[in-house]
Amino acid sequence: MTDKKLVSLTGIKPTGEPHLGNYVGAIGPALQLAETYESIYFIADYHALTTIRDPELLRRYTRSVAAGWVACGLDPERTIFYRQSDVPEIFELTWLLSCVTAKGLMNRAHAYKAARDRNREAGQDDDAGVNMGLYCYPVLMTADILIMGSDVVPVGRDQAQHVEYAADIAGSFNHLYGDRYSFKIPRAITPEAETGAVLPGLDGRKMSKSYGNTIPLFAPETELRKLVRRIVTDSTPPEEPKNPDESIPFQILEQFAEPGEVEKMRARLTAGGVGWGELKNDLFTVLDRVVAPMRSRYEELMAPGSELDEMLATGAEKARARAVPMLRAVKTAMT
Ligand code: TRP
Repeated sequence: MTDKKLVSLTGIKPTGEPHLGNYVGAIGPALQLAETYESIYFIADYHALTTIRDPELLRRYTRSVAAGWVACGLDPERTIFYRQSDVPEIFELTWLLSCVTAKGLMNRAHAYKAARDRNREAGQDDDAGVNMGLYCYPVLMTADILIMGSDVVPVGRDQAQHVEYAADIAGSFNHLYGDRYSFKIPRAITPEAETGAVLPGLDGRKMSKSYGNTIPLFAPETELRKLVRRIVTDSTPPEEPKNPDESIPFQILEQFAEPGEVEKMRARLTAGGVGWGELKNDLFTVLDRVVAPMRSRYEELMAPGSELDEMLATGAEKARARAVPMLRAVKTAMT
């Protein structure tokens, strides 16, 4: 890692088990960036606290997401990989930044606005059910980004506004204290938009936890087989020709199979004579081939007493080695 490399930082909110759609749209592209950038990955467990009220569940998701990313190829030696709550400097910076952040900016944040609009529609108070964590969420995210000196932040489209907020808040700080300390201005990159990799779920809509149409990335073999069978198809009989681009199992196959296999299946479907059952059997074989090695690594890491805890502890040390001097510089500028 040379000093000249730009810094890329990704935060992963532990609010569920990773699924195939996350792998194709987010995990894979984000890990790819480690080739080009000095890469930082962290589990945003304190962001998850705005919604998750069950400590045991939060711990499980945090562990599962951490194990999942390592199983997918994150190399904790070559990158910085930590749990947000292990780096207390982030939360101190959050306060300092909130003092240079306009409240109006928070009023316009998508997540808060959506909650407010739902309340209005339901004839309730604007802020019903809104906690300060949700409201200040973008400031915490700004601290995550700025404390590591990030240049780029790979995110899904839904998070791009938050990265603009981080740039805005960094700008406000620089305007006020720039003669004493200046933040780099971060920018969002959206690998998903660049690769166009959106995976359909069981029902054909984008695979997403909120649609309940996901295939968990580390589903045991029998569950994987069962879920693949549940993918929606039409009633075209096996002998009839089929349009591969309108077939959900084929669209999933395309993202996981070798190009030669994809072309062969495309030709066979177009010609007719392949039933959906056969396509799904092939899809299962391909998925299991890709996922099986990751699944066993995941299971190893999820076992109590695995090396995961040590990985995160080492990662926290590396993260704090950056965060401590950064926070000190900001504090010195402001106080
Ligand atoms: N808010 C992001 C999400 O929900 C997670 C996140 C927290 C994050 N802090 C971050 C992403 C910093 C990028 C940079 O997906």
